[in-house]
Amino acid sequence: MKNITPQEVAAHNKKDDLWIVIHGKVYDLTEFLPSHPGGQKIILKYAGQDATDAFDPIHPPDIISRYLSPDVCLGELDISHAGVMVKKESKADEQVRLAREKMPRLDEMYNVFDFESVAKTVLKPEAWAYYSSGADDEISMRENHNAFHRIWLRPRVMVNVKQLDLSTTMLGSNVSMPLYITGTALGKLGHPEGELVLTRAAAQKKIIQMIPTLASCSFDEIVDMARPEQPQWLQLYVNSDREVTKKFVQHAEHRGIKGLFVTVDAPQLGRREKDMRVKYSDDGPEEMDGQKDINRDEGAARYISTFIDPSLNWEDLAWLKSITTMPIMLKGIQTPEDAVLAARHGCSGIVISNHGGRQLDFAPSAIELLPEIMDALRAEGLDKNFEVYIDGGIRRGSDIFKAVALGAKGVGIGRPALFAMSTYGDEGVKKLIQLLQDELVMCMRLMGAPTINHITKDMVDIRNLKDHFVQSPVDYLGHHAYEQMLPRGRINKL
Ligand SMILES: Cc1cc2nc3c(=O)[nH]c(=O)nc-3n(C[C@H](O)[C@H](O)[C@H](O)COP(=O)(O)O)c2cc1C
Repeated sequence: MKNITPQEVAAHNKKDDLWIVIHGKVYDLTEFLPSHPGGQKIILKYAGQDATDAFDPIHPPDIISRYLSPDVCLGELDISHAGVMVKKESKADEQVRLAREKMPRLDEMYNVFDFESVAKTVLKPEAWAYYSSGADDEISMRENHNAFHRIWLRPRVMVNVKQLDLSTTMLGSNVSMPLYITGTALGKLGHPEGELVLTRAAAQKKIIQMIPTLASCSFDEIVDMARPEQPQWLQLYVNSDREVTKKFVQHAEHRGIKGLFVTVDAPQLGRREKDMRVKYSDDGPEEMDGQKDINRDEGAARYISTFIDPSLNWEDLAWLKSITTMPIMLKGIQTPEDAVLAARHGCSGIVISNHGGRQLDFAPSAIELLPEIMDALRAEGLDKNFEVYIDGGIRRGSDIFKAVALGAKGVGIGRPALFAMSTYGDEGVKKLIQLLQDELVMCMRLMGAPTINHITKDMVDIRNLKDHFVQSPVDYLGHHAYEQMLPRGRINKL
């Protein structure tokens, strides 16, 4: 392959003559530019430069060889040559570097929220916006965790809780606790190794990782990273081109995936305004614009998801069942009616989810829906051999306890895993899972539940669960007295 000097690449920096470098290879993208699904500006921004860092988070590694003619690859960047492309540190990069230098130690993370606070300071703005955003006013996103505050516990005492066992099964796989890492797109926005970090941590902590269709790493890279016998699930966005989906699903089955989770709550991607605003500010230099009518509605989310088929409906389940023997689960069920339909259509289970509050704002939280969905399934005799999971807002071991008490086989975490991964990598994700495990241990012990099977519905009080208008009262008097006992200066930290 031809060697090309950085100076040569840099000379091809115009719209009608545009080279860029990705992973050491030089590409001529002049012809491709107008058809880039993410718009022209982002490519123009890197004209004549190395675009690897911008490319990696939002493209699977094999995308160029899959979609572009081999002719666009002109050769390899000559790294022996003097003056190899020096990447200028952008202001955003500098801020991230400085913030990372000031990160607290991992052993200073005491709960799931701590990871989020650190992530906010060290993630690049576009990564923070994509990971943290919810739809519209982000009411459902906040409600997801708040709803857990409306469930109170009914602890049983005088139970032998010397030995605890948190293990359970999920779709037939043995796991260490009723928790899995759910599918979230674009892992490399937060960490250079992306989803592989989650794969390794899941293996070490013996929990399941759901691989997202829109992972930054390729599907095979993620499966290759798994240990032998490590169970993995696949989150599926059904493509408008059904042949593409068929090939993907059958490949996943061949690679040993243990469950197919079809996302059903995203026929159109929600409006995530934080994400949209950042796209707005991260566009290329104005002088290279030429696209005055650029669509400002496209954040990272919309840009990567244009292929999702909005015509997907109940009739498609027969087709899905005909192409795979993997258990089919519907992710994003939000009413008892649809839960019953899923069971009637032969699904193996559901995930009650509002997509982390990223789709329909004012969709209820999964934990609020769980009791009525379990009741509906039981009433129809459909609750046997049908596994119900929930995700959204799980941030404490007691949240897991409450979900299991109300009938969930397990719960998924999305953002917490992303934030732990983005801040402290493998060790961070392992610590996060350990914290949740320790909290669940404490909760089970104090609740008098030595095993998962001992966690029952009568251990939770859900009388307020439906009351959206009730806020927890604030104990101002107590707060005030407590503050006065602290030395000055620490008061603000309360
Ligand atoms: C950054 C991000 C990306 C996500 N990507 C997907 C996706 O590609 N497919 C999907 O079905 N759900 C996706 N979700 C939703 C999650 O699977 C899950 O429902 C949600 O994150 C759970 O809420 P939590 O973040 O409060 O734990 C995503 C969520 C986040 C935060």
